[in-house]
Amino acid sequence: MLLGTEEDWPTAFEEILRRLGPVEGPDGSKHAFDCERITIEPFNLRDRPRYNLVIDRLAYWYYHPREWLKKVAMMDGVYLLNSPFTFQSMEKHAAYCAMIRLGLKVPETVLVPYKHPVDNDRYAYTASRYNRPFDLDAIAQQIGYPLFMKPYDGGAWRGVSRVRNLTELHAAYDQSGEMLMHLQQAIDYDVFARSLSIGAETMVMRFLPDRPMHLRYAVEHDFLSDQVGVEVVTIGRLVNAFFKWEFNSCETLVAGGEVYPIDYANACPDVALTSLHYYFPWAMKALVKWCVFAMVTGRQAKLDLETDRFFAIADEAGMSYEEKLDAYRDVADAYFDSARYYDFCASKLPHLDELVLDWVAGPDFDRLLVQTVRAVYPAHEHDQFIAHLRGLLDLWVREESARLAAA
Ligand SMILES: Nc1ncnc2c1ncn2[C@@H]1O[C@H](COP(=O)(O)OP(=O)(O)O)[C@@H](O)[C@H]1O
Ligand SMILES: [Mg+2]
Repeated sequence: MLLGTEEDWPTAFEEILRRLGPVEGPDGSKHAFDCERITIEPFNLRDRPRYNLVIDRLAYWYYHPREWLKKVAMMDGVYLLNSPFTFQSMEKHAAYCAMIRLGLKVPETVLVPYKHPVDNDRYAYTASRYNRPFDLDAIAQQIGYPLFMKPYDGGAWRGVSRVRNLTELHAAYDQSGEMLMHLQQAIDYDVFARSLSIGAETMVMRFLPDRPMHLRYAVEHDFLSDQVGVEVVTIGRLVNAFFKWEFNSCETLVAGGEVYPIDYANACPDVALTSLHYYFPWAMKALVKWCVFAMVTGRQAKLDLETDRFFAIADEAGMSYEEKLDAYRDVADAYFDSARYYDFCASKLPHLDELVLDWVAGPDFDRLLVQTVRAVYPAHEHDQFIAHLRGLLDLWVREESARLAAA
């Protein structure tokens, strides 16, 4: 694990892996797992790494480990969640382009030049020669109000504004400074679905973006129709397979049965215990299963994107949107080796559900919960948040016990 400031999920991951013990491969071979937190040190480009797989949570902002990841991916075949070679596509802009190219319903989006020039000696000359004046008002008018102005590479709501009129438009653009901004049609949505994908698995959660962080994921099971649910999962899996991202979260707005993807590129998705709460055990299991599956079955990471796999379907004349989604789903499932993955989990990891249930219901997990709350919240809020999280995790334990008893 290549980590920044997180302690909660890495501790959970280490603990589940330790409790799991050796795993048998499809051919009967035995595989033992060891897990380390990688430290940052000088490295010779010819050094051999001692890892087979790295879960990266750091390289999106820290460039020394990013360059190490590129080296071990290219030279040593180390399996990565996620490959830094597609970080350039981790701005949402590239994902929008891919999704539009694939025929998905991305809201109308325009990229406008910087408000303030980039810090480069050559800018003044280049701009005076090549930057055309443009009519911001006309662009906004064409998209229609309200609209969203937001950075092309955004994350965590940084620089996002909802713009209702000309005055707000100019205020938002003036404030954008050196950020590169999209103007995007606002979707008046019924439901906000946020999905977290880890390898072949996806959890779609109802998201309430206006609530405080710890209340954003609602625990609600049937908030999408079957058809919309499948569409949301398919779009997430499609984008992930397209860019070969194996650990990503995706945001979709559902309005009148139509599915609009708005945020599909999160190199380092939030998996904090305090945000995911009820869904945290699912996320940890999925992460352990996917890493174990990839290693035990010798899954190979490929560096190239092979975009033709998808463009061939996108370009198929006479195919409807629904038919294309079905075809994309097949390609994505093939990329994630989904059938073999589920078969592997059922035959080689049948005890994992019980093991995680025992752990979450026991004192070790509660200690992690308390430590996490103490690390994240100010002292006067500890009791409140400990009770809040315990309540949600108790609910998970009850539902999971019932599920396993029924199965
Ligand atoms: N086109 C849109 N229509 C409606 N709401 C939007 C739209 N774009 C963004 N939003 C709102 O703004 C929030 C932040 O925008 P998003 O694109 O997800 O940026 P970030 O990467 O910062 O999360 C979204 O969670 C959503 O609530
Ligand atoms: Mg978002």
